Amino acid sequence: MSDKKKLFIRTYGCQMNVYDSERMAEALGADGYEQTDTPDDADMILLNTCHIREKAAEKVYSELGRFKGLKAEKPDLKIGVAGCVAQAEGEEIMRRQPMVDLVVGPQTYHRLPSMMEQVAKGEKALDTDFPEEDKFEHLPKLRGTKAKRNPTAFLTVQEGCDKFCAFCVVPYTRGAEVSRPAERILREARDLVERGVREITLLGQNVNAYHGAGPDGDWSLAKLIWALDGIDGLERIRFTTSHPNDMTDDLIEAHGTCAKLMPYLHLPVQSGSDKILKRMNRSHTAESYLRLIERIREARPDILISGDFIVGFPEEDDQDFEDTMSLIREVNYGQAFSFKYSTRPGTPAAERALVDDAVATERLYRLQALITEQQRAIQNSMVGQEVGILFEKKGRLEGQMVGKSDHLHAVHVQCDAAVGDLRRVRITDSGPNSLAGELID
Ligand code: 5AD
Ligand code: SF4
Repeated sequence: MSDKKKLFIRTYGCQMNVYDSERMAEALGADGYEQTDTPDDADMILLNTCHIREKAAEKVYSELGRFKGLKAEKPDLKIGVAGCVAQAEGEEIMRRQPMVDLVVGPQTYHRLPSMMEQVAKGEKALDTDFPEEDKFEHLPKLRGTKAKRNPTAFLTVQEGCDKFCAFCVVPYTRGAEVSRPAERILREARDLVERGVREITLLGQNVNAYHGAGPDGDWSLAKLIWALDGIDGLERIRFTTSHPNDMTDDLIEAHGTCAKLMPYLHLPVQSGSDKILKRMNRSHTAESYLRLIERIREARPDILISGDFIVGFPEEDDQDFEDTMSLIREVNYGQAFSFKYSTRPGTPAAERALVDDAVATERLYRLQALITEQQRAIQNSMVGQEVGILFEKKGRLEGQMVGKSDHLHAVHVQCDAAVGDLRRVRITDSGPNSLAGELID
């Protein structure tokens, strides 16, 4: 058995947190920790938290409560809280849960090794700065502790947000918009590809607002995508999350001309009512969003559109909600995430009158039923089509492999393909959550 100290990380929230957890594990790996899948045998437990909605934030406190017994049994166990709840409520966490040893925000986790030294001495460590230095430059260079990695990886290219939607905590927890220099992203991408990665999803809270320094001035996201397109061995490129106002002409065009850029776009609209969009401070209208979708579909007719919706935003009336439903009917979504509005302290919308909870719940159900119907119909229409599949893991059945299609549908195939193989598959069946297919060659 290894005598290395064991680290258990639980990740909540968005893909950016998944990426951060991986990088924190690497930072602590350099410090002698290896990851474990269960909290019971851990020497260090780290919760990487999400603050986007009230429920997500509450989970942290209930999860910490559950670790109380473990800490009583193992007094040497260290407990840390990272991510956006740490950023927003760091001191309160320390006060409410004295068993927490360490609190680290999303912009300071490169300092984890020195914070751990403090913790080892029995002190508490709290760091929620927005530092001058680039944390990525202070993290271990080599990505991935395993010799061969998953064939698909996240790569953060942009962080923070300057849009200040009236409901959203991101500009406060993640800070102002910052883009990483292009060269450093390309270096990280090449490094991932050398480790077996064939698909990279570029991440950012506002990824299409990317404007990182390049060798010849600032680069747009499209320019970055074209540079990644030149990396041999990298087969697929995706990006998320985008804002409608930053869908530039070069990015729309890339969807039609860059073969490695996959036909999937997550483009949240939040509401279909201009009154609500204005109150949300979204600075686009339902009509401008619809025209944008039209242009994107002209560039790439088979693109699958995904979205985010908030129902029950303060003062949303029946007509506003019906406007959202008609926008959904017009767009025809292949995927969507929908939420009941959740009041976030410190955001402008927190001051406004709430919609009755039962009304909001009923709207959410109706919206989700419509989305599910569209999602299923699009999935069913894949039957008989030929698609590319990147195999990611073994399926539950003997001899079965599971991968993702170009349109990000999960597909089960009975075949002898290996993890990391990219193969042509004919879709033969459509189930509630995934497709089935057979190899063409
Ligand atoms: N309440 C409900 N949903 C929210 N989102 C962001 N803030 C809130 C909030 N206060 C949703 C938005 C965003 C997604 C990541 O989370 O739809 O696009
Ligand atoms: Fe939040 Fe996205 Fe709006 Fe930025 S653009 S404030 S991250 S919802």
